[in-house]
Amino acid sequence: MESPPRLPIQKNKKMIKEIIEKLASEQNADREELILLLNDKSEDNLELLRVKAQARARERFGNKIFVRGLIEFSNICKNDCFYCGLRRSNGRVARYRLTKEQILGCCENGYALGFRTFVLQSGEDGCYTDEVITDIVSEVKKRFPDCAVTLSLGERSRESYLRLFEAGADRYLLRHETASKPHYERLHPGDMSFENRLSCLRALKEIGFQTGAGFMVGSPFQTTDDLADDLLFLKAFEPQMCGIGPFIPHRDTPFGNYPQGSLDLTLKLLSIVRLLLPDVLLPSTTALGTIDPRGRELGILHGANVVMPNLSPKEHRKDYSLYDNKICTGDEAAECVNCLSLRMKSIGYETVTDRGDFKQHKTTGNKE
Ligand code: 5AD
Ligand code: FES
Repeated sequence: MESPPRLPIQKNKKMIKEIIEKLASEQNADREELILLLNDKSEDNLELLRVKAQARARERFGNKIFVRGLIEFSNICKNDCFYCGLRRSNGRVARYRLTKEQILGCCENGYALGFRTFVLQSGEDGCYTDEVITDIVSEVKKRFPDCAVTLSLGERSRESYLRLFEAGADRYLLRHETASKPHYERLHPGDMSFENRLSCLRALKEIGFQTGAGFMVGSPFQTTDDLADDLLFLKAFEPQMCGIGPFIPHRDTPFGNYPQGSLDLTLKLLSIVRLLLPDVLLPSTTALGTIDPRGRELGILHGANVVMPNLSPKEHRKDYSLYDNKICTGDEAAECVNCLSLRMKSIGYETVTDRGDFKQHKTTGNKE
């Protein structure tokens, strides 16, 4: 016999189970359902969600994990986001920029290691004008025609994005950071705007980039409602890629004393995103690997299907610190690649070297 106070819990548990079943079969959930699911603490439900998400990723990608070579080519940034260690007000960063030849050198090194996607990422550094970037992109495409080029350079004008696309860039990553305007305004100073962030994302998608959005889990002031809105935004926007990682404080920022995002909540969000957007390219991020030694493996087991080893020159790695204690700052590119393939192998997955473009599968709303 169960005591009366436990009844609502059991009922609730059943309801959550139904939400998970619906997520898996209809690839959808409404705001209220997402909030219930996000607040739920039942281990059984969490495991059910994980199993469904991992199965969905397996169905779409088998045991293959796509690898992207990340080249962090400048840590100079004109923005002052409250969470980021590279913000312009942080005077303690040793700033650096790579030249075109240095960037090409990283690609060459990566190509030899099997990479077929290069992610060129930087702060919002005015030095990299459209002319400079288009020149770099065209040269990378010329030298490595079988490779995809992904850019992650922050907010630019529509014209600029168009020029980058015409120069041959295939993909663009720009996390929306949060889908709630009031929350966005608590994470960024007044000279940045939520509307502009969203219009950049829309422009990128319209132009034809495979576009990546995403957000941090556990950023200061984030509520469950905000997270539900992030999920609804992703479902509606349908990005081809989605970057999700825990917030990790950086000591030299205004958010230096805030707690880091939770591992379990980040994993849960990865699983929900896999079920909402079955074909999305979903990295198991470095931030996840930073808050837990097995974070990246756990990300894969929760539905992620991409890893991004670092190809940046070793001497600058530690200077690209968005947050404290970032992993892999002391390792050569080859070490990172080997380490990650061994890690993937240890959980039954295999890293692959093809471009791994976004592919929409025909089947929708598959019933289980
Ligand atoms: N913790 C975790 N992620 C961060 N980012 C920036 N600062 C932090 C931090 N302190 C993320 C942002 C940004 C991406 C490049 O890194 O989401 O879009
Ligand atoms: Fe970089 Fe393990 S992935 S050392």
